[in-house]
Amino acid sequence: MAAPFIVFEGLDGAGTTTQARRLVEALAQAGRAAHYTREPSDGPVGTLIRQALGGRLTHPDHSRLAPETMALLFAADRMDHLAAEVDPVRAAGVAVVCDRYVLSSLAYQGQELDDAFVRAINARARAPDLTIFLKTSPETALARRAGRHLQADLYEALQTQRRVAAAYDAAIQERSSSHRVQVLDGERPVDGIAEDCLRLALSCA
Ligand code: TYD
Repeated sequence: MAAPFIVFEGLDGAGTTTQARRLVEALAQAGRAAHYTREPSDGPVGTLIRQALGGRLTHPDHSRLAPETMALLFAADRMDHLAAEVDPVRAAGVAVVCDRYVLSSLAYQGQELDDAFVRAINARARAPDLTIFLKTSPETALARRAGRHLQADLYEALQTQRRVAAAYDAAIQERSSSHRVQVLDGERPVDGIAEDCLRLALSCA
């Protein structure tokens, strides 16, 4: 059987990258080989997406790519990421810990596009063995981001984060059992959250 596929989700600034990396280290210390990865991925489509989010990939008149185009790129990146990285790593017996996955598309693209379209283009992305949702208020997430030197991207404003938070709540309700979603309070100290993540991961590893 393939090694587990574990996903972290949350608002920008919720701590998904910190906790995903901590979990990979903690699993290794517990004797379970684990691999950190992320979406948008570091593959060809993910690289395009990061360029578009950062405003470095635009139309000749400098306008941004349309929301539908971005949603399709996120979905294409996901299929490419599964085939090129996630599946081979898992087949080799190494757990994969992925920073963002389908719920990010439902939450971010879903708040500006028809839900049915976003669901349809992600229908082939298989469900993870565990999804850890780090729940933070939009205010906390934004305040944390303001403390970092992040390039302005499409999703920074608080109003947008509030809409994304609401879309995440709806997506979690819908996928709670299929994506095995566990909601953790992302406003607690980092070490306590990391302990809970390890416990959840070991129960599915
Ligand atoms: P992220 O890696 O969290 O940003 P950073 O590296 O700057 O910390 O993700 C980049 C952005 O992409 C983030 O705002 C969420 C967004 N996103 C979507 O809109 N849809 C998706 O399907 C995914 C995976 C990410």
